[in-house]
Amino acid sequence: MKSSDRFVIRGGRRLCGEVEISGAKNAVVAILPATILADEPCVIENVPDISDVEICFRILTELGATVEQLAPHTFRVDTTGVDSCCVPYESARKMRASYYFMGALLGKFGHARVSMPGGCPLGDRPIDQHMKAFAKLGADCKLDRGMVDITSEGLCGNQIFFDVVTVGATMNAMLAAVKAEGLTIIENAAKEPHIVDLASFLNSMGADIMGAGTDTIKIRGVKYLRGTDYAVIPDQIEAGTYMVAAAATGGDVLVKNVIPKHLESIISVMEKIGVNIDQYDDSVRVSVDGPLVKTSIKTRPHPGFPTDMQPQISALLCLAEGTSMIKEGVSEQRFQYVDELRRMGADIQVDGKVAVIEGTGKLTGAPVKACDLRAGAALMIAGLAATGVTYIEDIFHIERGYSDMEGKLNALGACITKETVSNAAKAEHTQQNAV
Ligand code: EPZ
Repeated sequence: MKSSDRFVIRGGRRLCGEVEISGAKNAVVAILPATILADEPCVIENVPDISDVEICFRILTELGATVEQLAPHTFRVDTTGVDSCCVPYESARKMRASYYFMGALLGKFGHARVSMPGGCPLGDRPIDQHMKAFAKLGADCKLDRGMVDITSEGLCGNQIFFDVVTVGATMNAMLAAVKAEGLTIIENAAKEPHIVDLASFLNSMGADIMGAGTDTIKIRGVKYLRGTDYAVIPDQIEAGTYMVAAAATGGDVLVKNVIPKHLESIISVMEKIGVNIDQYDDSVRVSVDGPLVKTSIKTRPHPGFPTDMQPQISALLCLAEGTSMIKEGVSEQRFQYVDELRRMGADIQVDGKVAVIEGTGKLTGAPVKACDLRAGAALMIAGLAATGVTYIEDIFHIERGYSDMEGKLNALGACITKETVSNAAKAEHTQQNAV
C-alpha cells in the first residue's frame, strides 16, 4: 500500500522567538554542480538539509565524484574522479535544477547529456535560452529521446543576449563560459543573489567573472580552477517565508542569519501591509501591532518582489481586510495554490496572471494539498493562522526546499506534527470532508 506524509497543523498560535535561516536552495543547487569544474576538491559550507541537495549529491556520485560530510551542513566534494557526462533520467527528472549539470559538464568536458528538467509545475518552463547560450559558445545542442545532448569541439567566448531575464540560463551560461577560450559577455542577465553567489564561488576557484548582480556579466575563460572552501549565502526566500509566517500569526520573531540587503523588496512590501520590520546586521525582527493593510503587488525579477514569495504573501493578504491584488510578472502559472486556499475560506479570484484577494481577516483549517514548493509554504502559513486543524498532503514538495520547517516552526510555538498516511486513510479522510 503506497503511503505519503502529511503535516497536521493546529492553528491560531502566535509565533514568538528566534529562527535560524539555512543556506540558499537556489544557490546551492547551482554551486554543487559547479564543483565539477574544479580541478581539485572543494569544501562547501552552510549546505541546507533539503531533498534537492540529496539529489545533487546522488547525481555527483553517479558521475564518479566522491562526497564526504565533514560536519553538519559542511561537505567535501571531490570531482576529480568524474568519468561520465551523462546524468541519468531517474535523477534528473526529479529536480529542475538538474539543468545546471549541463553547463558544468559542458564547461569541463565539452560534452553533457542530461534529461529534460523536472521540478515545480509552474506552467511552461522552457530551456531555449539555456540552449541559445550554449550554442553561442560553440556547442551543438540536440534533443534525443528526452535527453538534451550537448557537444562541442572547444568552447569559445561570445556575446550572449537573453531574450528574457532568466535565472537558470544566466547561471548555466556562466558555468559553460568560465573555461571557454576568450571573453564572454552576458547581456540582460538575471541579478538574483544566487547569481552573485555562484559567481563568487567560481571566482574563489580562480575564475574571472565580473558584473554578476548587474544585467551585464563579463567572463574571461581560464585554464585551471583550483579547489576552494566556500559558504553558501543564506536563503532569501526561506527568510521571507518565516517573516510572513510571523506576521500571519501576529507574532514577534527574530529571523537570524540573513543578509538584509537581499530582503529589501520583501521588507518593503511587508511594511506596506502594516508589518513592523527592525533590521540588524544579520537578522530582522518581525512583529505586528495593528491591522494588516490591503496591498497591490507585482512580482518581478530581482531586485523586484520575488515570484518565489508570491504564494506566501497571498496567504498573508487573505488576512488583511479589503481588496488586494497580485500580478505575477515572472512565472507562467503560479496560482495553482489558490484552490487550496479557497478550501480554507480564502476569497480569491484569478484571471490569467492576476489574483484579486478579498481579505476576510480569517481562515479556517481544512485538508489541503501542496502542489509545488512555495504553494506548500503558503499552505503552512495559512494553517498556522487558521482556526482549527489543517492537513497538508504531498509535503515532499515542501521538503525539497525547506530544511526542517516543522521543527523550526514548532520551536517558535507552532503545533505541527508529521503523519504517514496510507492511501486508504487519505481517501476516507477526503471523503468525509468532501461534503
Ligand atoms: C529559477 O527557476 C528558480 N529555480 C525558481 O525557483 C524561481 O522561481 C525562478 O528561477 C525565478 O526566480 C531554480 O533556481 C532551480 P527562470 P528557473 O529561468 O531558472 C522563462 C523556487 O520556488 N524562460 O528565471 O526556471 C520562464 O518560462 C523555484 O525556489 C524562458 O522563456 O526560472 C519564466 O517565465 C521555483 N526560456 C522566466 O523565463 C528559458 O530558457 C523565468 O524563468 C528559461 C526561462
